[in-house]
Amino acid sequence: MVVTATPGQLAGQLEDRRQPTTTLEGWRRFVDADQATFDLLPTADRDALADADRTGYDEARIAYHAELIVVTTSTIRQILHQGRLLTLLNQREIGARRGLIVSGPAATGKTTAVKQLGRTHELRTRQRYPDGDRIPVVYVTAPPKGSPRKLAVEFARFLGLPPIRPRQNVADITDAVCQVLTDARTDLVIVDEIHNLNLNLATSAGEDLSDHLKYFTEHLPATFVYAGIDVERAGLFTGTRGRQIAGRAALVRTGAFAYQQEWKGLVATMEHTLRLHHHQPGTLVKLDRYLHQRTSGMIGSLSHLVRAAAISAILDGSEQLTKHLLDAIRVDHAAESATRRASSGAI
Ligand SMILES: Nc1ncnc2c1ncn2[C@@H]1O[C@H](COP(=O)(O)OP(=O)(O)O)[C@@H](O)[C@H]1O
Ligand SMILES: [Mg+2]
Repeated sequence: MVVTATPGQLAGQLEDRRQPTTTLEGWRRFVDADQATFDLLPTADRDALADADRTGYDEARIAYHAELIVVTTSTIRQILHQGRLLTLLNQREIGARRGLIVSGPAATGKTTAVKQLGRTHELRTRQRYPDGDRIPVVYVTAPPKGSPRKLAVEFARFLGLPPIRPRQNVADITDAVCQVLTDARTDLVIVDEIHNLNLNLATSAGEDLSDHLKYFTEHLPATFVYAGIDVERAGLFTGTRGRQIAGRAALVRTGAFAYQQEWKGLVATMEHTLRLHHHQPGTLVKLDRYLHQRTSGMIGSLSHLVRAAAISAILDGSEQLTKHLLDAIRVDHAAESATRRASSGAI
């Protein structure tokens, strides 16, 4: 009787994946990690396990459901496609390279999508240049109240450059970062949480920062991908320089799913990943409208609801997802208040 991964191994994998991806080491682990898999034992075999073994088996299953898989949604497909096109076009581009902006509300899958783009690009590059010291992809998140200095420090941190001295000026840090990235042949730079940056040119801070970003984009032979919350509305890319950055970038919007075919597909895919002993296949798909109402069509809320319910079903021994069980699971505040407004007829 073989369980694919021991609880220890699975816990180890999860631990690896939980490393921040904003350092080169953490990023590489993320790229290396395959999606979690779990082989369900026949129920009779599971019941025959000694207590300690069964506990281990269930713990491994809980860890598996805590993670769940990344579904390749149409947004992810679009971002992978655009990103690939741009990196190919930009390779030959000497002047204005084009970028990509991913914009939408919180928890709509922006980070997940741009990381998948980064991972795909890195795996492809590794395949083409198997024995190089390349750093094909850099992933940084813009720090809150981000200044040029703080942003430069994020890049330096990703690369593991020596700690920045308080008096080191921004230009020096930036030069050092650009040098390393050029030497490492970085060709995809992802800046997430870009809404943290004030690029609004009404302020001199905003002006500095957009100059700084522009300097990066002009001095690095890389494709820049930005992701953030409703960035086009936040005034991030307004003003002369903001527009210069945005003017050369394709925009992909993320948002809630409509109650349509793709939503049903998403629910079906998630249902497929469940590893529960008494789950009736098709139950979740039949509840797709209910799930849409509960989550307001937000992928983050759906993922949370399904994973939390699955873990709950293992813990209480019911081993199946039912509407009754789903009713008892709380989803995040934004989705719940939308449901309340909807059911009270306010929207
Ligand atoms: N393609 C996907 N497949 C499965 N789950 C997803 C997917 N995209 C997002 N999620 C879920 O939604 C949550 C929020 O996604 P995230 O990418 O962090 O959103 P954002 O960056 O827009 O705030 C994630 O923790 C994950 O659980
Ligand atoms: Mg995010």
